[in-house]
Amino acid sequence: MAQEVLRVRLADHPQLARPGGAVALKGPGVVLVRGKNKGTLRAFSNVCPHKPKKGRVKVYGEDCQLRCPVHDWTWGRKGQPKGKQAKKPLRELRLVERGGEALIELG
Ligand code: FES
Repeated sequence: MAQEVLRVRLADHPQLARPGGAVALKGPGVVLVRGKNKGTLRAFSNVCPHKPKKGRVKVYGEDCQLRCPVHDWTWGRKGQPKGKQAKKPLRELRLVERGGEALIELG
């Protein structure tokens, strides 16, 4: 079965032009994160691994913190749990960056 691919034009999200930038896309349930050191672009499902039916990961503040507002779990740029609360990583989605676009496999 073919994977559904989401195509994102990166110029539409200037937050991703700088290291450490992140954005929660409206609609598809995807959070895009630019690594601070190597600048690697990653995609994660916005479904909170704590309570998947309840929480959604959002991007907060100047430092683009990844956090679910329900119980304040937070994650690092690679989707790893961060802080005292979070216990599970974010689900990473396959992503290819080329030609000013991010191609993300959903599902
Ligand atoms: S539902 Fe997201 S932190 Fe609890």
